[in-house]
Amino acid sequence: MSAPKKLYIKTYGCQMNVYDSERMVEALGGQGYVETKTPDDADMILLNTCHIREKAAEKVYSELGRYKGLKAEKPDLKIGVAGCVAQAEGEEIMRRQPLVDLVVGPQSYHRLPEMEAKTRAGAKALDTDFPEEDKFEHLKKRPKAARGPTAFLTVQEGCDKFCAFCVVPYTRGAEVSRPATQILTEARDLVERGVREITLLGQNVNAYHGAGPNGDMSLADLIWALNDVDGLERIRFTTSHPNDMADDLIAAHAECGKLMPYLHLPVQAGSDKILKRMNRSHTAEQYLKLIERLREARPDLHLSGDFIVGFPEETEEDFQATMDLIRAVHYGTAYSFKYSTRPGTPAAERDQVPEDEKDDRLQRLQALLSQQQRETQDAMVGREVKVLFEKPGRLEGQMVGKSEYLHAVHVADAAAQKGDIARVRIVESGPNSLKGVLA
Ligand code: 5AD
Ligand code: SF4
Repeated sequence: MSAPKKLYIKTYGCQMNVYDSERMVEALGGQGYVETKTPDDADMILLNTCHIREKAAEKVYSELGRYKGLKAEKPDLKIGVAGCVAQAEGEEIMRRQPLVDLVVGPQSYHRLPEMEAKTRAGAKALDTDFPEEDKFEHLKKRPKAARGPTAFLTVQEGCDKFCAFCVVPYTRGAEVSRPATQILTEARDLVERGVREITLLGQNVNAYHGAGPNGDMSLADLIWALNDVDGLERIRFTTSHPNDMADDLIAAHAECGKLMPYLHLPVQAGSDKILKRMNRSHTAEQYLKLIERLREARPDLHLSGDFIVGFPEETEEDFQATMDLIRAVHYGTAYSFKYSTRPGTPAAERDQVPEDEKDDRLQRLQALLSQQQRETQDAMVGREVKVLFEKPGRLEGQMVGKSEYLHAVHVADAAAQKGDIARVRIVESGPNSLKGVLA
């Protein structure tokens, strides 16, 4: 038998890409590849790219440039680009960077084995179509490998919302949900492999609607079905859109025992004028009402969000409306960005806010958000939470896990074992994590 070939895969961007990279490693495993942590000894290098951040394509080209020396030393080395930049740039990547042997879009990962074979035969392989067939079905599982206590499971991809700043509807295509029956099978398989917490992933996850054994299922239906899976202890989902926060999903937060009290619900801005121009199709007040209903359902719900400052035509007054909304909600965590143009999206053509103005607003916004995060963390001291331990911490004898609220919690106690869920009393709060003792 020949020695296994080595695959180095570098993943950019969101959890969706982390999940996709795992599937690509599995798919190429069938071609005799094992994963390596460094490009230096790789037989194939794959960049799994993300298009959300600014100058994403440029960064990919400069990363590719770095492999010139390696490829010169090792002509058999194959270099591929996957993910949203591959989808957006297509053939252009091979034109601009002749080192590249393979370009594959997110809808075509099931074709990787045959594409890899094509590159071994000395040809270039390109596939950025949006096919009708189901890519997940084709990514057949290899013999069951043990997994850590937490896993992501993609249930939905793409988006039909067309927010004026966002490339996702162009790079990931229209919204498509996977059949619920398939997801439930995969979830049971994950649990057999040691997983205790599953995070359902989708660009617009709460728009989920997939075929189940007894007809169409909403995200809430799917969560309830997962709630019945023995051995699965925790369910989360991300990322949601306010307009798809259906009544049954709000009710699940009140009633479904395994659904964790944490919700990432981006609002992006607090000014109705800006929300309209972003094409978010809801007002600040509707969002606040929704938060109120969610908190009625689950009073201890921890909220997280995404914010964009300096969207075209945002005035200081509009910005203050975002600050007011943040004060009204009080977020446990949040992600914030300066608006940056994405070619091909409507907002890219509009009057832009000066860069120094954006910097100034981002600083003020982040100061407020970090203050809220700190307050949320500090308020945990003295409380008891349940922690699912995931891995050893940085210090000797320490384990790290997550609370129900997704706080990172450190415990220094030999009795804390990976995969266990234990009651922990929080004794100290730091900027990004909590310290606790077994209760
Ligand atoms: N500029 C800045 N932030 C953006 N996001 C998406 N597109 C842009 C853009 N053009 C942010 C949004 C989204 C998160 C994933 O990235 O806040 O929710
Ligand atoms: Fe992008 Fe999310 Fe808007 Fe869809 S809902 S266009 S993924 S920001």
